[in-house]
Amino acid sequence: MTVSNMAGRVIAIDGPAGAGKSTVGRALAHRLSLDYLDTGAMYRAVAFAALRRGIPVTDHERVAELAEALEMDVSEAGVVVDGQDATAAIRTREVTDAVSAVAANSPVREELRARQRRWADEHGGGVIEGRDIGSVVFPDALLKLFVTASPRTRAERRVGEIGGDVDEVESSIAERDRRDMSRQDGPLRAADGAYVVDTTGLGVDDVVDHVISLLDDQ
Ligand code: DC
Repeated sequence: MTVSNMAGRVIAIDGPAGAGKSTVGRALAHRLSLDYLDTGAMYRAVAFAALRRGIPVTDHERVAELAEALEMDVSEAGVVVDGQDATAAIRTREVTDAVSAVAANSPVREELRARQRRWADEHGGGVIEGRDIGSVVFPDALLKLFVTASPRTRAERRVGEIGGDVDEVESSIAERDRRDMSRQDGPLRAADGAYVVDTTGLGVDDVVDHVISLLDDQ
């Protein structure tokens, strides 16, 4: 593969919650010796910091100011917010419920997109996962994937990771999808030129092998 710029070394993975993006993204990054960035963790870090400071997530102006000033380090080792480990805290129900409002805040999206582009620059590209990575942040990515799975499968996987009731999780996933897809700025959708990868019934290695074969065709 020829690499002329850092976007030429970005593999963009988008798709709905629980589709297997993180598992596939991490495995793919290891196979290709690339770094991996979970951009959802960045939106969660902002939501977490707002809740901790008592800033209502619906106060768009204050949340935007917070996003611009916030010290966060998102890496495979974990998530550090304001110098403190927030790896587990950003996955709580409270943060999950608050994050859609943060993700719908355009100035926040602009700030986080700028940080994502900077990250790619500093890391010489990488596997980057989110909702708008191939469609907005890196439209010139080397490879764009839209990873999906049936709602039931996605709910079952989430319950396997964090527990809960499958029916309840399925309906909360459906609600979050609806909000992510109907958002004005960077709605969840397959980017132009993205390969749709349905992981229902597939193991991680099968998916990664398939993606590597797509990459070989580039
Ligand atoms: O992938 P996740 O569930 O951790 O993402 C958390 C939230 O952030 C979710 O509501 C979607 C949103 N998000 C986004 O809008 N854009 C991204 N690039 C990544 C996540």
